[in-house]
Amino acid sequence: MKTYAVIFDLDGVLTDTAEFHFIAWQAIANNLGIEFNQEDNEQLKGVDRENSLRYIIDKGDVVISDTQFNDLLAEKNNHYLTLINDINPSHLFSGVLPCFAALKMANIKIGLASASKNAHLVINKLGIEPLFDFIGDAAAVAHSKPAPDIFLAVAEGLGVAPENCIGVEDAVAGISAIKSAEMLAVGIGDALVLTQAELVFPSMSEFDLGKVLTMSAT
Ligand code: BG6
Ligand code: MG
Repeated sequence: MKTYAVIFDLDGVLTDTAEFHFIAWQAIANNLGIEFNQEDNEQLKGVDRENSLRYIIDKGDVVISDTQFNDLLAEKNNHYLTLINDINPSHLFSGVLPCFAALKMANIKIGLASASKNAHLVINKLGIEPLFDFIGDAAAVAHSKPAPDIFLAVAEGLGVAPENCIGVEDAVAGISAIKSAEMLAVGIGDALVLTQAELVFPSMSEFDLGKVLTMSAT
């Protein structure tokens, strides 16, 4: 295949916001009397806000009203926004800027497919917003990851057929979304966890574009 676009996830691929999501969800869970640990947080990587809260409520087997549900979503997000307030370009994972520069040199478009409704804010704070050719809107897609919607919407926005796109993800739900979009999947993290990915790098600083393009050409 010929690669015309690489579409990146944000949280856990370009920067480490997982810890902030963890702190904010843990506060919500603990207030409900539910234990929430790092293992739970792992399960929620790539999962959108509503489904993350559903996971916590199901874990604790508590019953809450729709109003309470929405209040908790707002409370979690307000806490998260406070926690990410000081994010700046130094929070960008190393390897991201060289990778983007190599993609530009190769004339390959760069897209963003994040499940986060705060994605614009975060990439703005990281100083990388102008580097994207298209940024997906998590609020505008019908189904969240592991459904393919956000990756397909970004491919469309970039004007590139899905079969000419590569997706990059750190979460199992995200890799599933890429595969359902019929794109090639590159994982960032543990190859034993991201088993559906065609290629896995331990971190963005090890991302090897040459290897990715060779793999996609075969
Ligand atoms: C994903 C994160 O990128 O975005 C999840 O991996 C998070 O942890 C999800 O819950 C939704 O984020 P937000 O900012 O819309 O609450
Ligand atoms: Mg992620």
